[in-house]
This record gives sequence, structure tokens and C-alpha cells, in this order.
Amino acid sequence: KQSVKLVVGNWKMHGLSGALDQASSLSRALVIDAGAIRVGLCPPATLIDRMRGVLKGGPVELGGQDCHAQPQGAFTGSVSAEMLADAGARLVILGHSERRTAFGETDRDVAEKVEAAVAAGLEPIVCVGESLAQRERGDAVAIVTAQVAASLPDSLTERPFAVAYEPIWAIGTGLTPTLEQIAEMHAAIRSAVVERLGQGAGRAPILYGGSVKPDNARAILSTPEVGGALVGGASLQAEDFLAVIRAA
Ligand code: G3H
Repeated sequence: KQSVKLVVGNWKMHGLSGALDQASSLSRALVIDAGAIRVGLCPPATLIDRMRGVLKGGPVELGGQDCHAQPQGAFTGSVSAEMLADAGARLVILGHSERRTAFGETDRDVAEKVEAAVAAGLEPIVCVGESLAQRERGDAVAIVTAQVAASLPDSLTERPFAVAYEPIWAIGTGLTPTLEQIAEMHAAIRSAVVERLGQGAGRAPILYGGSVKPDNARAILSTPEVGGALVGGASLQAEDFLAVIRAA
């Protein structure tokens, strides 16, 4: 049996202090069955500590969107996993395609960041996904399972983590794969995770991300092997994000 569903909002580089109102509305309106679902929110790092104050006592878990592989040092502009944890994060998104593409992160970089996250007590959400050209060439499953194998370090064995399958062409576009394509990819990812880390890792939730909206969330979240969702645009407004969460 898989673990509880995990629905995580990724605010990306959106959110000034006024956006804390959305987190506060979400927290007030959210009533969740703790055995059935977990809800996370990953705002820009500048808001994590303040959002902790807003969410205090509520069920929403906080997360970062990236971290450095080192715990501290002369790395101007970077934030470490320990700093995220210190600010109130329990989760951290790593290897998002926007990091891989715009910041040149490799699978090896991602694996090092995952190690750092685990060492700081954070639960990493490791993102993988193919480009449209790769899918059209028929290479999607091979590309994604290779990313899984190379992005998950040994230190994840026996530690909580999640994988997020995010087809790059589905992010922010309104396009999504068919439910069959999602099921096929998630089953392949599950096998790749078990092959990489052993049976114990077979319970890690595999989230789907890429244009998850209130109107498609129920179908996607009830697809076999889909253990949750990583939600971008639809997590910015409390009302939309609540609708996605309620569909899980
Ligand atoms: O991390 C979230 C994803 O990149 C999905 O973004 O829901 O806006 O397509 P989106």
C-alpha cells in the first residue's frame, strides 16, 4: 500500500508579503484527514519564516524550492538546507526542470543537494521529466528513469522522500499527458526507484506536476501510481489550491 497522498504547492518566484493572506486563507479553510493526505506549500525562501507564523498550528507543511549542496560557506546568493529547516521548512523541491534548464543543474548536482537536504532533516521532492522533443522521439521513459537513477543518492534509503514527475512541456502550458501516459510513467518511475534504492523505497509517493488545475485534479490524482501532485500556478490562490487538495 502506498503512503498518504502528498499535494504540494510551488509558488516559484511569486509572492510578496501580501501573499501571506493566501496562505492564511488556505490554512483556515483546510480541514484534512491526516491519515489520507498531506499538504505542503513552498513559497520563496524569504517568506518561509513569516509563513510559519501564519500557518502555526495548522496542517500545512512548509518547504523550500531549492537548496545549496553545502551546509554553509562562501556561496553568495545561496541558501542551505539547514537554513531552510531553521526557517521552518520540512520539505524541499530539488531538481525542478526550471533549475535544471535555467541554472544548468545536472543529475549529479541534484543528488548532492538531496544528500544535503536529508542531512538537514528535510524531505526532498526530487523532480524529473522529459522535454517535448524527447517525448516525441519516444525516449520519455528512458530519459526519466535515467534521471531517477542518477538523482537519488544512497542516503535516501530508509528516509522519507518523494519523486515528482513533471513533463517539461506540461508546466505552465495547460497541456497534460493522457492518464495512460501518466500511469505508464509513474509505474516506470516506481520500478526505477525500487531498482535504485531497494524495496523499502517503494512506498515513496510519486507526484505528478504540470498544469494540475481544479478541473483535472480528480482524474489525475486517482490515476494508478499517482501519489500526489506538485502544483504551480493553481497553488497561488487559496481557493484554487483548496479545490485541487479536495480532489485528492
Ligand atoms: O512545480 C510545479 C510545476 O512546475 C507545475 O507548474 O502547475 O503551473 O504547470 P504548473
